[in-house]
Amino acid sequence: MSAAPDDLWQVRRMRTQDVAAVLEIERSSYSHPWSERIFHDCLRVGYRAWVVDRAGRSVAGYALASIAVGEAHLLNLCVAESARGHGAAGRLLDVVIARAAAENANELFLEVRPSNRAARRLYARYGFETRGRRPNYYPHRHGREDALVLSKVITI
Ligand SMILES: CC(C)(COP(=O)(O)OP(=O)(O)OC[C@H]1O[C@@H](n2cnc3c(N)ncnc32)[C@H](O)[C@@H]1OP(=O)(O)O)[C@@H](O)C(=O)NCCC(=O)NCCS
Repeated sequence: MSAAPDDLWQVRRMRTQDVAAVLEIERSSYSHPWSERIFHDCLRVGYRAWVVDRAGRSVAGYALASIAVGEAHLLNLCVAESARGHGAAGRLLDVVIARAAAENANELFLEVRPSNRAARRLYARYGFETRGRRPNYYPHRHGREDALVLSKVITI
């Protein structure tokens, strides 16, 4: 798939039928991908989930979040390698932040690998700040890797 100009991305709710396409992106993007079951469980328990695509074409990325009792957590944000660098993740983040605000969340939290430079640049651009570090949080080829905990205060 060729990448779309930055203004042509469309975000919609993730459906069960999207999971196969989502899983393909997940498996090619992460060294330790989520299983199919995790995605189905997320949809079943009512986590908020979206996909981004270009005018009804194949899924280019997705985001999942939990929003409850004044806090939102970004659980997964991923864009297919062929679509990166064109703002798709930003369109997804815009929707997550708007949804969190609509559900009265005051802050949006996420974890990121310190080594994930593309993601950290994206989150910095969106005003996320580092709040802490979870030691040995992520599996890594050579043992474990810490997670940085980032958050952004949501203003309505
Ligand atoms: C992090 C991620 C979601 C960003 O998605 P994206 O749609 O490329 O986001 P953007 O277009 O806003 O680009 C984000 C940054 O990465 C850079 N980038 C990443 N991949 C790129 C590529 N293939 N080509 C060009 N630029 C790229 C962009 O230049 C941009 O940096 P900038 O802010 O300095 O300009 C995507 O790289 C990804 O899915 N990575 C694998 C999964 C992952 O790590 N998710 C985050 C978990 S916390």
